[in-house]
Amino acid sequence: MFGLLRHLFKLQFLFVVVAVFAGIYHVEIRQVLRQYSDLYLNTAGLEEAIPVKFQAGLFTPAELLQFDGEDGRPIYLALLGSVFDVSRGIKHYGTGCSYNFFVGRDASVSFISGEFENYDPETADDVLTLKPDDLIGLANWRDFYEKDYVYKGKLIGRFYDEQGNPTAYHHKYLELLLLAQESKKQVEELRSRYPGCNIEWSESTGTRVWCTNSSGDGKERSWAGHPRKLYSRGNKSFQCACVPEQELDEIDASGKAAIGDAMLKPYDNCAPRAQECFYRV
Ligand code: HEM
Repeated sequence: MFGLLRHLFKLQFLFVVVAVFAGIYHVEIRQVLRQYSDLYLNTAGLEEAIPVKFQAGLFTPAELLQFDGEDGRPIYLALLGSVFDVSRGIKHYGTGCSYNFFVGRDASVSFISGEFENYDPETADDVLTLKPDDLIGLANWRDFYEKDYVYKGKLIGRFYDEQGNPTAYHHKYLELLLLAQESKKQVEELRSRYPGCNIEWSESTGTRVWCTNSSGDGKERSWAGHPRKLYSRGNKSFQCACVPEQELDEIDASGKAAIGDAMLKPYDNCAPRAQECFYRV
């Protein structure tokens, strides 16, 4: 009888010990898992909820340089200050491959310029001077890496400070990106209102643009319209849009169409009511 009680007491003691250790273990495991996921996994959406230092890995430029794919190390690159593991794309980024230039650094500007030979750390990620369309192009590249590769964290430098907070430069970039995206939307809206022109080029006459009842979208309409240059914000290049007769005066008077910064301008050396214009670039 006493033997049985002693046995039960031992079992109970064992149970308490196991429970205490399991509790500690559980807490520790949770902490480790949390640190792991915060440091190494994409934490998009959690950024508000967790302290900045755990939001993602932070890399100095020298640390990032180590991730070059040599001796079994992973391959990392940075774009707009975000670091991605692109080891899976070794056929593009490995030593001697076409896009090895991007490895271990932030060469954001080269995603637009196509300059893969010379790397200048002073200017390689200085994107604020790029054209609005190029800022959109860069944002698309970032989306691509986020979708196809593994986000690893932030590069300390132009876009993130040493605590991993976005810099004033980063805010400026986001501001310009937003303006570029808005402007693109405005142009698309104008584009749907004013169809495109026919266009042809010859050495003797240069570029010829002209409007017909089905120019642009190929759909038959009751009016042909008159060619105008359609600009988006901050871009020197333009598209040709056909504007109906009754809207010409208002648009030409203000030099602007109704939508935001997108502009419609007459062609130089072309009569206001002409249905075709010529120009050379
Ligand atoms: C600004 C210029 C350019 C940049 C920044 C650029 C960048 C890139 C990058 C980063 C990749 C790898 C994408 C990945 O990780 O899957 C890639 C792939 C590729 N690029 Fe380019 N590229 C440029 C111009 C060109 C041009 C001019 C050509 C063609 C003549 C070209 C043809 C290719 C091809 C064929 C692939 C491989 C696609 C695949 O296998 O999935 N690229 N490019």
